Amino acid sequence: MNISPLQKARYEYSPKLPGMLRNGIAEISVEVGSATQSVADQDKIQALFPNTYGKPEITFKKGQNTSEQKKQVVGVILSGGQAPGGHNVVSGLYDALKATNKDNVLLGFKGGPSGLLDNDYIEMTDEYIDAYRNTGGFDIIGSGRTKLETEEQFAVVEEVAKKHGLTAIVIIGGDDSNTNAAVLAEYMAAHNTGVQVIGCPKTIDGDLKNEDIQVSFGFDTATKTYSELIGNIERDCNSSKKYWHFVKVMGRSASHVALECALETQPNICLIGEEVAAKKMSLSQIADTIADAVETRGNNGENFGVAIIPEGIVEFVPEFSALIAEINELLAGSKTEEFNALPSWEEKYAFIEKGLTKESMAVFAILPTGIQQQLFLERDPHGNVQVSLIESEKLFAEMVANKLAERKAAGTYKGKFGQQHHFFGYEGRCAFPSNFDSDYCYSLGYNAFMLIQYGFTGYLSKVSNLAQPAEEWVAGGMPITKMMNIERRNGKDKPVIKKALVELDGAPFKYFEANRDKWAVETCFTFPGAIQYYGPTEVCDITTKTLALEQGK
Ligand code: FBP
Repeated sequence: MNISPLQKARYEYSPKLPGMLRNGIAEISVEVGSATQSVADQDKIQALFPNTYGKPEITFKKGQNTSEQKKQVVGVILSGGQAPGGHNVVSGLYDALKATNKDNVLLGFKGGPSGLLDNDYIEMTDEYIDAYRNTGGFDIIGSGRTKLETEEQFAVVEEVAKKHGLTAIVIIGGDDSNTNAAVLAEYMAAHNTGVQVIGCPKTIDGDLKNEDIQVSFGFDTATKTYSELIGNIERDCNSSKKYWHFVKVMGRSASHVALECALETQPNICLIGEEVAAKKMSLSQIADTIADAVETRGNNGENFGVAIIPEGIVEFVPEFSALIAEINELLAGSKTEEFNALPSWEEKYAFIEKGLTKESMAVFAILPTGIQQQLFLERDPHGNVQVSLIESEKLFAEMVANKLAERKAAGTYKGKFGQQHHFFGYEGRCAFPSNFDSDYCYSLGYNAFMLIQYGFTGYLSKVSNLAQPAEEWVAGGMPITKMMNIERRNGKDKPVIKKALVELDGAPFKYFEANRDKWAVETCFTFPGAIQYYGPTEVCDITTKTLALEQGK
């Protein structure tokens, strides 16, 4: 295989472990804390998880390893979207497992949870693992979005586990996957299978975060990658001074990625979905906010700027959500065929006009035609509009252009408006993990094995104190049930890990809020540049601004 010089160098990189895991397996002891409670709905969660609820927090310490010495056969899966560092979780898990006993076995189930259901696996060897150390991507075993959630599926997993003599399963995934890891752990315990289940917190979206999990892995590298690109765009527009760039960034519903990129690059505008929802802003109000900045800058002779738009923004606009719900209703069942059979857009438009309420039609009417048509083209398997596919960067650019045309006619706006659009998502999900993600992920995997070795199940691998140097990180585990509450999903009450949205009274948003008016009209761009892997620690080992602000640094 042809490999780049950086890839070769990254193979040699030794990820940093938390201090308490550094002296070798024989010197890792365990400290058992007090019993835990779920964050809400304690009685209901306890009733659903009678075998795994209320377990204590675990912290590892330097000291004599007193774990039971039995042969471990561990299965691992990657679940959901890619996030930089997944390969290091697997290599950390593998190294701890082999360092404990060279006869221990690690099986990687391929293509995500479906690999476990289909018994599609590969046995990990030194040679195989070495080709993936410190690299981005999930191609070591692949990933998938099949959900492991039904009793029937659990019974299949039990069979597969029996076939291989699995003693544990490690699920590397986001909030949903780890919720399902907890349910699987409960199933395995209730059926006395002896199979332990451990989760690891993954997602570039940064929304698997709580008082125990300071950050999900991949967020650091993905936001650094997008911030590099946004910084480059800022430099370009500062040089040519002729475009406004509308940059949509991934992150599904939550705006953590957008906020972090804004803290890194100080753009003129960054929308935060959670704020839009809290203030019940309309599309027109949002477009006005952006147009105000364009107008002030344009009238000052600065006909350029950068606006960051979070992927999920439109879901947070109340009038837009109402419109989507009505469109879903309008096309329910056979009405989709009726709609599709209409030969022209004019006839389709009339059909839409007849079916929507006056309020939703008013919202629909102000959308650019391209976006209007998109709402009727992209449907998910249930026939619903796929909100994440809406090109909101184009939507807002177009709406701002219309506002500016009105302002020009009224004589208040004297500038020129040229627009460019970008969507950064896949560019960052498989980047070479930053040193932070390389170290953090390797530690999560190593630590996951220590939880297995000490006999714990239903735990999330937890590494904290992350704003400090790795030496001072704290390794341990937290029962997943501690992070759960009951939420209504698809008409049913379900136990789930609470999703973390941007907190409007949190330090990262407060910092942004205090500075954004200045950033909107002045040119305060900052250029983070590319991720650095080698060089001074203050350049290579810096964490995100979000984490630093949250941890009061
Ligand atoms: P996870 O929540 O599974 O980590 O995935 C996150 C994400 O990257 C989102 O930011 C994005 O909306 C989505 O995946 C895209 O998914 P897909 O890879 O299926 O296009």
